[in-house]
Amino acid sequence: VAATKELRVGIVGYGMMGRAHAYAYRAAPIIRPSSVAFIPVVMSGRNADAVAQVAADCDIDTWVTDWRALVERDDIDVVDICTPPGTHAAIIEAAAEAGKDIFCEKPLATSYADARRALVAVEKTGVRHAIGFNYRRLPAVSLMAEMIANDELGDIHLWRGTWLSDEFVDPDIGFDWRFESSMGGSTIGDLGSHLIDLATWMLGPVQDVSAISSTFVRSRNDEGRPRDVEVDDASSALLRFSSGVQGTMEVARAAPRRPCDFTVEVNGSKGTVMFSYAQLNELWVGSTDDDARLYGLRRVRAEHPSQPETKGWWPIGQGVGYDASLINQVADLAATWSEHAWSPNFSVGANVAAVCSAMERSVVDRRWVSVGEIEGASPKG
Ligand SMILES: NC(=O)c1ccc[n+]([C@@H]2O[C@H](COP(=O)([O-])OP(=O)(O)OC[C@H]3O[C@@H](n4cnc5c(N)ncnc54)[C@H](O)[C@@H]3O)[C@@H](O)[C@H]2O)c1
Repeated sequence: VAATKELRVGIVGYGMMGRAHAYAYRAAPIIRPSSVAFIPVVMSGRNADAVAQVAADCDIDTWVTDWRALVERDDIDVVDICTPPGTHAAIIEAAAEAGKDIFCEKPLATSYADARRALVAVEKTGVRHAIGFNYRRLPAVSLMAEMIANDELGDIHLWRGTWLSDEFVDPDIGFDWRFESSMGGSTIGDLGSHLIDLATWMLGPVQDVSAISSTFVRSRNDEGRPRDVEVDDASSALLRFSSGVQGTMEVARAAPRRPCDFTVEVNGSKGTVMFSYAQLNELWVGSTDDDARLYGLRRVRAEHPSQPETKGWWPIGQGVGYDASLINQVADLAATWSEHAWSPNFSVGANVAAVCSAMERSVVDRRWVSVGEIEGASPKG
């Protein structure tokens, strides 16, 4: 398929995700050719030398040092936001005002109020909006969602999500935006937002939550001076879904030798399905209908062309990696651009932010908090 519509993208931020998105735009047409193609043409960052270098590495001709200059350019169709969560709402408001379609990294914001601001801005101007909950696009995760939607597990009773990383283990890591709550949010918002997105996508809304948090390294070096860490190193939560599903979630950036290890498990009346990111091409599945002699969970390879999100990928047995989630994300945005049907959108991002905010409130107030309480306290705009 030759691209007949080229959408010119401005990428805000040149850190890990700025580079990752640039890479995904380049690779998506090779894996899943589409009549719509995204072309990254400009990148922004506050450090001129650094953004110039990354832009050159990504084969992006133009760079600017102020995101406002990027957003206002006439030759940009899409603004892609890859900066810290505390910056997202303001960039979204400006991009929506300028009539650009917007693709924003997760979490949508550091608070539900800011997430609502972002949602109101895009709904007012009618631009397309999508949030980077990329893990939905992994074939194995997508297969899990499909099995639940097809009622293959019976009535769903239990959900379990864990996300362990060692990002904050070393006390010598200096203070940066991730440790400042207004800029980085929380570990609940950073890692938990992915898990809550997956959970609510598969099982519907969360009704109420109870959470605890800890910060083990309480102070970090900020250019020679100690500075208090404002975010949780680890949090655990109990969740009650509106459907009655009972859930538990654990997120930590304080787990040595656990790099981005996340798991999601669902237990229904007829079966269990479990995903572990360390084996991302596999799903573990067991059914009460299985032959009793084969009692247990069996390893399913999530690479067969009959399975979701496998289109265009390598022959079965080769597997995919993290980048497949990002490339599939771009390919899905290209495939749904014409129908104005981007998903997941900022409405999903705001719902996830409400659950995260409810958990954060629960930690402070030491009580169960309903998600409706968070949503009700914020003006609908
Ligand atoms: N979906 C995923 O797999 C995934 C993975 C990592 C990060 N993320 C998300 O992507 C976003 C960026 O994370 P990252 O890991 O790329 O961060 P990073 O620190 O690698 O890069 C951040 C970028 O934002 C810029 N920046 C920092 N503070 C800024 C400010 N106040 N104003 C404007 N620009 C600022 C930095 O210069 C840099 O270009 C975050 O929202 C994060 O949660 C998503």
